Amino acid sequence: MKIETFALERWMTTYETKVAYDIAESGICPMTTADLLGIMPAEERERTLADLLNLPLGYSEAPGSLDLRSLLAATYENTGPEHILVTTGAIEANFLLLNVLLELGDHVVAVEPAYQQLGAVARAIGCEVTPWRLRPETGFRYDLEELEGLITSRTRLIVVNTPHNPTGAMLSDAELGRIYDLAVARGARLLSDEAYRWLEIPGGERLAAPIRNRGDAGISVGTLSKPFGLPGLRIGWMAAPADLVAACWAMRDYVSLSPGKLNDALAVLALRHRDRLVERTQSIVTQNLATAEAWFAAHADMVAWTPPRGGLLALLHYALDIPSLELANRLAEEYSVMLAPGSAFGLEHTLRIGIGQAPPIFATGLERTAACFADLRAAGVDLRPGADLAAAAPALVAGTSS
Ligand SMILES: Cc1ncc(COP(=O)(O)O)c(C=O)c1O
Repeated sequence: MKIETFALERWMTTYETKVAYDIAESGICPMTTADLLGIMPAEERERTLADLLNLPLGYSEAPGSLDLRSLLAATYENTGPEHILVTTGAIEANFLLLNVLLELGDHVVAVEPAYQQLGAVARAIGCEVTPWRLRPETGFRYDLEELEGLITSRTRLIVVNTPHNPTGAMLSDAELGRIYDLAVARGARLLSDEAYRWLEIPGGERLAAPIRNRGDAGISVGTLSKPFGLPGLRIGWMAAPADLVAACWAMRDYVSLSPGKLNDALAVLALRHRDRLVERTQSIVTQNLATAEAWFAAHADMVAWTPPRGGLLALLHYALDIPSLELANRLAEEYSVMLAPGSAFGLEHTLRIGIGQAPPIFATGLERTAACFADLRAAGVDLRPGADLAAAAPALVAGTSS
């Protein structure tokens, strides 16, 4: 398989271990193992620690431990452990699903812009991928009428991501249901990348129920990376019909075989204490949202954003006449700040910002970003002619049917 370069991942890996203020990250700031154990009552903590230290580090159950699959299955309706395959992050779940479901010449409709993997793997397989575009000028509205016109009798798969990376847009439950019905009516399947599940904006809209709950044409992909700050565990999963899970598992035999045993055990702990982890996440997001709102208001001549409706990501639009890659490189190299270049998503003059970082780091990262902008202005970088930040970053709006 020949596949295009994953632009964002290449860029992130250049800087992510080097900068002090990473405010581009797509997940909530990572927990330590001590943090995870620390949320348990003392007695449980001691018992758990002893169990972890004595866990034989042999190969684990290939599809993920029964404990982990049962806990995950319980987060969906009509789903048992046989419907879950634990994978090396959501990225492996997506990769396996796209490879098992698609063949050369198939037609796919995939949301765009997007986490690049969602379209790139299908293109590498030789599928015809029609983008379902979210456009800045419509506030990144999911236009369901447009989608209807993109699906043909040859469409095998529709790929969505909600809440959305990189815009923070979101499908309502009714919209996701309508897409499911469209897929079923045309004999297609619907792959819903739900990497940002459990990431409601505090006081904001409810997330749509996982697509798996609607029936066998819906495939949900999930992860512990984004909502719980556990990306280093590399634990993701798919929730899908048992035959599809079996086919993906058979393909995975050639790739990673099974999840890491210790990671599987830590994932079980995280899911058992999911409510406490969600509380931690909500507290971080609440603080960072307030910081961000104040910062955008203070620098409204230079920046604007579309706050996320769900998830952790949004686009920062800037007025300076400088390409996003050049700006992002300068921020990283000279200010130790990471904001991802919008060019990786085909959205020039934007930077992707994540609101999951530790609040003090997030606040300092924004201050340093403002300093960089001021320095660039002082050095003679102009504002883009006709740059209209208010028009570039309208409020995120709900789709047609919500
Ligand atoms: C939409 C989306 N899907 C999947 C992934 C992969 O996540 P992981 O492999 O860490 O679970 C990401 C990571 O950024 C993402 O944004």
